[in-house]
Amino acid sequence: MKDRDALRSALLAWYDAQARTLAWRTSPGDRRAGVRSDPYRVWLSEVMLQQTTVPHATPYFLGFTERWPTVSDLAAVEDGELMAAWAGLGYYARARNLLACARAVAGEHGGVFPDTEDGLRALPGVGAYTAAAVAAIAFDRAANVVDGNVERVMSRLFAVEAPMPDAKPELKALAAELVTGDRPGDWAQALMDLGATICKPKSPLCDRCPVEAWCDARAGGAPETYPRKTKKADRPRRYGVAYVLTRGDEMALVRRPPKGLLGGMLGLPTSDWRSEPFSDAEAAVAGPIAAPWRDLGAVEHVFTHFSLTLRVFMARGDGDFVWTPRAGLGALPSVFLKAARAADRLI
Ligand code: ADE
Repeated sequence: MKDRDALRSALLAWYDAQARTLAWRTSPGDRRAGVRSDPYRVWLSEVMLQQTTVPHATPYFLGFTERWPTVSDLAAVEDGELMAAWAGLGYYARARNLLACARAVAGEHGGVFPDTEDGLRALPGVGAYTAAAVAAIAFDRAANVVDGNVERVMSRLFAVEAPMPDAKPELKALAAELVTGDRPGDWAQALMDLGATICKPKSPLCDRCPVEAWCDARAGGAPETYPRKTKKADRPRRYGVAYVLTRGDEMALVRRPPKGLLGGMLGLPTSDWRSEPFSDAEAAVAGPIAAPWRDLGAVEHVFTHFSLTLRVFMARGDGDFVWTPRAGLGALPSVFLKAARAADRLI
């Protein structure tokens, strides 16, 4: 690309002036003064930020780093405690991978993160994105950090006509051409900030964009139509029933199987989730105990691959469950919190 250096300078100058202040971020000024980012904090934030917004992830990041200031502290946590702390962030396989990675760094690397992309990639649960992000941001390696924001920015700068997700390798190759050994950590974060605050999915703020002059999609007049997409089938809908069983101030929870959706998390007892709605009679027999179940209506929850309509029933009773006081329900995944709240209004 012929004016690559000018484009890079324009974006880095914008980042110097406009970088968002984020809990895990070392400001561009501090970086220039030689302050290094703690790889543990970079890694933790990048794992949390996958599929989660900055405002949602920030309190979790602050809570985790206060409770577990180093990767070795995190490695010593018990699985259940970590899963409870992760509750509400979703994608619970990430929490299990997080712990596996922390234990590998603490146990096999003396508590010190590897400082190369390849070394990071070899850690359990660390994928291409996380390895590149930590290598660039914590170690200033010239790694190509490509997330959804960066893909969108590239698709617009270069008006890539191939639809997603087929366009991904092309977008990654275009991003790679812009990476150099000069300030790679700031470069990666500048691109992500641009994507998050200016080059937004639906209504990009091109008037305020520092690289507008280089943007082929802007020149074409319809930047918001990139990245091109193939028409996606609607999310399928599934149906289920959740049961709020109470004993005094306590609610019955069950530990979900380790693999699969919400694996390893505590949750309300539920029916299977299936493609047909549950009738009243079916809902009554699928309950965890025989009881006069009372219908509380339904809650909706959207997962990545399907939407769930969850009918909620409530009864008092007893049995072999993880009995949890109402104050302890904060450790439930959001879908169960919604269902528990439906009952809370009535208890
Ligand atoms: N999204 C994911 N990682 C990020 C980072 N390091 N800076 C800004 N946005 C991000």
